[in-house]
Amino acid sequence: MGVSDRPMSSPRLHINVDHVATLRQARREEFPDPVQWALAAEKAGAHGITCHLRKDRRHIQDKDVRLLRTELKSILNLELSLNGEMVELGLVSGADAFCLVPELRKELTTEGGLDCKHEQQRLADVIPALTEAGGIVSLFVDPDCHQLDVARTVGAPFVELHTGSYANQTGAARERELQRLLTAAAHAQDIGLKVNAGHGLDYENVGPMAGMPGVQELNIGFAIVARALLVGVEQAVQEMLRLLTPAPTTSAVAEALPGARS
Ligand code: PXP
Repeated sequence: MGVSDRPMSSPRLHINVDHVATLRQARREEFPDPVQWALAAEKAGAHGITCHLRKDRRHIQDKDVRLLRTELKSILNLELSLNGEMVELGLVSGADAFCLVPELRKELTTEGGLDCKHEQQRLADVIPALTEAGGIVSLFVDPDCHQLDVARTVGAPFVELHTGSYANQTGAARERELQRLLTAAAHAQDIGLKVNAGHGLDYENVGPMAGMPGVQELNIGFAIVARALLVGVEQAVQEMLRLLTPAPTTSAVAEALPGARS
């Protein structure tokens, strides 16, 4: 299947609310509340909410996950490391989806994709357990065909392609990263993986990701939370949703004109 043969539709928007919890934890306050913020984002049109329960609990807390589970009407996507304690919490979380990520103690945010080869045995144990608990599992991986092959071997239904390198580059270097992502997304689908993407995406760089054939969901956090500080949650979410919706083609526009079918 060539890249251009893949079905085109807008990816769903899942919003990562860790950054709201980071602000709260800066003062160990009760506010701002990531659960209330998530509900506002959902009301504004987000298709799902993502949060990362880290071992060091630097932002999202266990009680946030419990409350998100009971309050959200849409999808709860829980990011977890392969650490035993975190997987145990995932198993009882009731999340609809799990994204397995690497976790380094000193990193500011998730820095790279999972090394699926290195983690192969652990992944082969954890993926069926989380699936049995009722969640769809994805692996957060760099756009690297070898990693994708291992992800397929260990039985992951989904991968989330790490867009951080693309987002951090400009000019020709960004173009090269985009090509890597396109190649990886095509290869993933050819070997039977479903594809999500995320990390570092913002209002300026999201366009090519929104148009990437077959990508089902984008996970975006920081840019939307930061924009919401200025314009409010509803507007920040809706501005991003508009960027994910393909512009109508000329013929679709023409068909929508009054009298076009007469
Ligand atoms: N996807 C994964 C796996 C992540 O770890 C993060 C960051 O928490 C995101 C997406 C969202 O990244 P950002 O906050 O830069 O939009």
